[in-house]
This record gives sequence, structure tokens and C-alpha cells, in this order.
Amino acid sequence: MIRAMRPVVIAANWKMHTTPADAGELARTIASRTRVPGVTRVICPPFVCLAAVRDALAEAAPDVAVGAQDVHHELAGAYTGDISAPMLAGLASWVIVGHSERRRDHAETDERIGKKLARAVEGGLRPILCVGEQLADREAGRAVEVVDTQLRGDLGAHDPELLAEAGLVIAYEPVWAIGTGRNALGSDAAAMAETIRAVLGMIGWTEPGLVPVLYGGSVTAANIGEFLAEPAIDGALVGGASLKPDEMAGIVGRAGVTAAARLAAIA
Ligand code: 13P
Repeated sequence: MIRAMRPVVIAANWKMHTTPADAGELARTIASRTRVPGVTRVICPPFVCLAAVRDALAEAAPDVAVGAQDVHHELAGAYTGDISAPMLAGLASWVIVGHSERRRDHAETDERIGKKLARAVEGGLRPILCVGEQLADREAGRAVEVVDTQLRGDLGAHDPELLAEAGLVIAYEPVWAIGTGRNALGSDAAAMAETIRAVLGMIGWTEPGLVPVLYGGSVTAANIGEFLAEPAIDGALVGGASLKPDEMAGIVGRAGVTAAARLAAIA
């Protein structure tokens, strides 16, 4: 019953693709191709495209949320080139935090990611926290240990109630599956989703079963079914395929099947 109450979420992470000149049109096209009841849709374009995407969706598809791909851990200050939560007001209502590409390229630590989460929540942004292990960790049997450590480091300093109220979503993105065309097995992703909720329980969450867990890593229209067939998985954080309207139509269409089935299960 609790499981059936979690939303089905498909979030598009456009990464460093699109420009203010073309992002609005792409967002509109994707929105019109993904009108499926019951699926929460989020588009996360680059910072400089947020306004264009917001404006494009405002009339055409106000139910599609706009998200940022990162947020700074301070509210303001001497941080050249960075973007803070207050700056995102009116531009984004969601935000990705702790993506492995930022952990890798910007040396983001779990402590810093924890601070970013705090700023996101204070700024009224709904966070998608990314966790996931490297290939060497998985091969050495350390995947659970790595994700456990990330979760405790990212979330340990937070009041679970506040994060739950903010609608925290967790995306399990094994690093070796990102942009490689080599997706995880649905069963492995589901096992990690259960692990994630178990860790939340250990760090004081009273209702970890209500936290949506997405899978990310080479998701396509062809393989989304493998993940959504797993009751522990509530959707996907999609990278490369999220720039292709045909792919998004297939992914969100399949998500709609899961959303309808969950609704029927509680009716
Ligand atoms: P790909 O779907 O391109 O593998 O990227 C996944 C991802 O990093 C989403 O945040």
C-alpha cells in the first residue's frame, strides 16, 4: 500500500547540452510528446536555459516541472561562476544535487553535498540526490558500502522530517552505467533501491518506504521497462536519451503504465 503511494517520476538531465535559443522548443516538443497521466515530469536544462524552458512550458505544459542541475552550498558570496538557491527562485522548482559528474569534475564531497541539500530545501527546491558506485567498487563487491557511505555523508546532518517534507528523491546512478550504453540490471538497481531505503531507516527516517528512488544510467525507451518492472524503482533520471523526443515519448509512456498500475492497486 505504501509502495503504491510513491509517485512515478521521469526526470530529464540535459547536462551541458542545448542553448537558450533551442532549449524552449525542445522542452515544448518533449512536453507535448509525453502527456501521460500519473507521471511526474521534470526537465533539468543548463542554468542559462532555465528561463527559456520555464517560459516555453508555462503555457504549453505547466505540469512539467523545471529543475536546475546543481546549486551552491552557500546563499551568496565570492564564488565566481556559481549559482545559489535564491538565484533560482522563479526559474526552477527542482534541483539535482550530488551528480557523479559534479563529484568527479568539481571534487564535490558528501559534506558539501549535504550543505547543498540544506540550501536547496531552504530555497523551496525539491532535491534529487544522486548516489552510485564506480565500476571498481561494484566489481570488488563494495557497491552497497559506497552508497551507504554517500547517503550517511549527504543526509546524516539533516532532519529527516524536513527532507521528507521537501519531497527528497534519490537517484541511484551507478557511475559505470552513465553515458556508457551499459545499463545496470533491473534486479541490481531494485536491490540498491531497497538498500537505500534501509539506510534511510538506519539514519532516523520514520517512513523510508515513501521516498521515491529513481534509476539512472543509460536509460532508453528500450530498457526503461526493465527498471519499472521493479516495484522498488519509481522512475528514472535520464541523460542522453532525454534530449530525444522519441526516446522520451517511449520512456514516459512506459512510466504511465506503471503509474496506472499503482493507482489501480490502491483503488
Ligand atoms: P545517461 O542516461 O546519458 O547515461 O546519463 C545518466 C545520468 O547521468 C542522468 O543524470
